[in-house]
Amino acid sequence: MSTPARIAVLVSGSGTNLQALLDAVAAQDDFGGEVVLVASDRPGATGLDRARAAGIATESRALDDHPDRQSWETALADAVAAHRPDVVVLAGFMRLLTTTFLSRWPDRVVNVHPSLLPAFRGAHAVDDALAYGVTVTGCTVHLVDELVDHGPIIAQEAVRVAPDDDVDSLHARIQAVEHRLLPACVGALCRDELVVDGRHVRTPSARPG
Ligand code: GAR
Repeated sequence: MSTPARIAVLVSGSGTNLQALLDAVAAQDDFGGEVVLVASDRPGATGLDRARAAGIATESRALDDHPDRQSWETALADAVAAHRPDVVVLAGFMRLLTTTFLSRWPDRVVNVHPSLLPAFRGAHAVDDALAYGVTVTGCTVHLVDELVDHGPIIAQEAVRVAPDDDVDSLHARIQAVEHRLLPACVGALCRDELVVDGRHVRTPSARPG
C-alpha cells in the first residue's frame, strides 16, 4: 500500500467535521490519508482539544497577534507547511485565505460549506437560507480558490427544510450530511482519485456524493 497522504485540518470552532474525519480515517484501512496537524486562528477552539485528545499536533496563529492579514496568513501557511501536508481541509475555518496560503497547495485545499453553492455563500449560510425561505438547502464540499465559497465542486447533497426548522435544527441536519460527505471527498483526494478540469471535478469511479 502507498504511503498515506498527510492531511492538515484548519478549524475555528467546535470541530465536529474534524472529528468525523478522524473517525473515518480510524475506521477505514484504505482511507489513504492520516491527519498530521490541526491548526486554528483561535487558540481556544474546541477543535484543537479534539486534536490533542487524538494525539495530533496542533498550531494556532491568531490574526490579532500579527500586524496585518498578509503577515498572519504567511505565519499560518508557514506553520502548516512545517508539517508537510499533501492535503489541507478547511473544516469550519471561518477566515478567508488568499493566494498567500493557497498557492502552497494548488488544488489541494478543500472546504465544506453548509449550503448548495453557489447559493448562500459566506459565514451565515444557514441563517440566510432560512431567511430566504428555501425549502431545500444542503452542503457542498469544494476545492478552495481565492474567491469566497467559489472553487470547483467535488460533491453536494440536498437537505430539506422543515416548516418548523430554526437555524440550530437545520444546521444539525446539514452537519450530519457534512460528516459523511467531507471524509468521502477528502479520502478521494488523498487517493488521487479526483481529476480537476476547470470547474469540473471528476473521479474515474463514482462521485462521492
Ligand atoms: C460546518 O457546518 C461548516 O459547513 C461551516 O461551519 C461549520 C463548522 O462546524 N462552515 C462554513 O460556514 C464556512 N463558510 P464544525 O466546527 O462543528 O465542524
